[in-house]
Amino acid sequence: MRADLTRHMAGRAKTVGVKFLEKKRYLPKDLEKDREMSTNSLLKIAIDGPAGSGKSTVAHEVANRLKITYLDTGAMYRAITLKLLRARCDLDDSSGVEALLAGTTLQVLPGGQVILDGENVTEAIRTPAVNAAVSPVAELLAVRQKMVRQQQEIAGASEGIVMEGRDIASTVMPDAPFKFYLDAALPVRARRRLEEQLDKGLPLSYENILDEIKERDRIDSERALSPLAVTPGTVVIDTTSLSIDEVVDRILQEINRGRD
Ligand code: CDP
Repeated sequence: MRADLTRHMAGRAKTVGVKFLEKKRYLPKDLEKDREMSTNSLLKIAIDGPAGSGKSTVAHEVANRLKITYLDTGAMYRAITLKLLRARCDLDDSSGVEALLAGTTLQVLPGGQVILDGENVTEAIRTPAVNAAVSPVAELLAVRQKMVRQQQEIAGASEGIVMEGRDIASTVMPDAPFKFYLDAALPVRARRRLEEQLDKGLPLSYENILDEIKERDRIDSERALSPLAVTPGTVVIDTTSLSIDEVVDRILQEINRGRD
């Protein structure tokens, strides 16, 4: 798989947002530049959590406010899953999986569109079939190695990035100075997911969704390779009764404090 993601995302990194640079006004011009450069290089933000914890919406908004890159790593696992599903690949056939991965080009464009072998699969990776197959695919060593390598290349090429997933704090960016784990009560997570699906016109029931995310949570947290877990040094936020804005503000406050 080529490192196309790096190229696309590298161009997106921008300077940090106005809010965090208010103190700059009191610095002489040349010091302002130094400060901006050093603070940008520290803006690696990891956000992990289970399905429906709000992390995609929150991570996207945090990146917007800070004017830095946002990467949804789940979309990458979903795209690989789509490819393996279409090829009817047996997940136990590791050389078959590796051969398919080797011939795969994956890109995530700045707007979040996912391009798999030149095809825009942004919608196709959000189907119930992919939901059901993604966690078993994400358990595979070859898949994780490829994904983590690409994600680390993107992080390395970015001046600032918010990356969200399941293993960002533990494996992809263990040195990130800002690590968050979002969680919420299971019924609330299922309800949020149901509302998203209904908005898209998908006729799924609450029970279907509850079962699907419960099963994904189980596989994601029990797997041998970089399971979903709270990493030491991570700020845990229970989003059960918080709005998106409240979670975003909480994260920005933590970052602000850490950068003082
Ligand atoms: O958005 P949602 O919470 O439904 O899931 P996602 O972020 O799109 O991730 C889909 C699946 O990819 C997860 O259930 C994990 O199995 C896998 N994943 C992973 O293993 N590691 C990541 N860093 C991100 C996702």
